[in-house]
Amino acid sequence: MSSEKIIIAIDGYSSSGKSTMARRLAKEIGYRYIDSGAMYRAVTLYAMRNSMIEADGSVITAALVEALPDIHIDFKVDGDGQLTMLNGEIVENAIRTLEVSNHVSPVAAIPAVRHALVKMQREMGKTKGIVMDGRDIGTVVFPQAEMKVFCNATPERRAERRFKELTAKGADVTYEDVLANVMERDHIDMTREESPLRCADDAVMLDNSAMTLDEQNEWLLNLYNSIIAKQK
Ligand code: DC
Repeated sequence: MSSEKIIIAIDGYSSSGKSTMARRLAKEIGYRYIDSGAMYRAVTLYAMRNSMIEADGSVITAALVEALPDIHIDFKVDGDGQLTMLNGEIVENAIRTLEVSNHVSPVAAIPAVRHALVKMQREMGKTKGIVMDGRDIGTVVFPQAEMKVFCNATPERRAERRFKELTAKGADVTYEDVLANVMERDHIDMTREESPLRCADDAVMLDNSAMTLDEQNEWLLNLYNSIIAKQK
């Protein structure tokens, strides 16, 4: 079998289960996993903490763009998972709140933010052996990725998953709020001018609405094995 490591890009809609799949595949095959959404969330948290988001939700773009060189994002390995770090502080829980989810799409639509994060993401993929999930990984960050997957599930199914995740952490949210957030983010992510969410022409599509986690993982591992077999 070829020992050549590859780049695996997993894109898709919010809460489509891509992070869970990507993380499990990375662990199984001994690759590094990077959650690119966590990076957009960390920039959003920085903007919120530094009063760069107005009461109406609009972002003070000039201030945020000026601050970009001061925003350092990294990941710290923690057992099987990883913790997102913002300027040396662990912000893994702070970036998962509904408040951050509500502000992240306009931040992720700012071209200078995307350029800065894409540059960091390409740096992380230099030595290959990486599974990265997000919205533009197969289209913009690594168009040359050897394996590309595009995930989807119905908005209701995705909201249900995110609602369970949030309430398990003790968040005080309603299913309706979460569904509204999922639909609003789909709209902004798909219609933004800079790197809108779309399926790469050479990505394999997966609708996992009716699949269990184990079924998704088996599907992903089979795809990986078939790609590696072709590389021999
Ligand atoms: O995957 P997530 O829900 O944690 O991502 C948070 C937001 O970041 C999402 O609304 C869109 C944005 N995002 C992006 O624009 N590009 C990426 N590669 C990853 C996430």
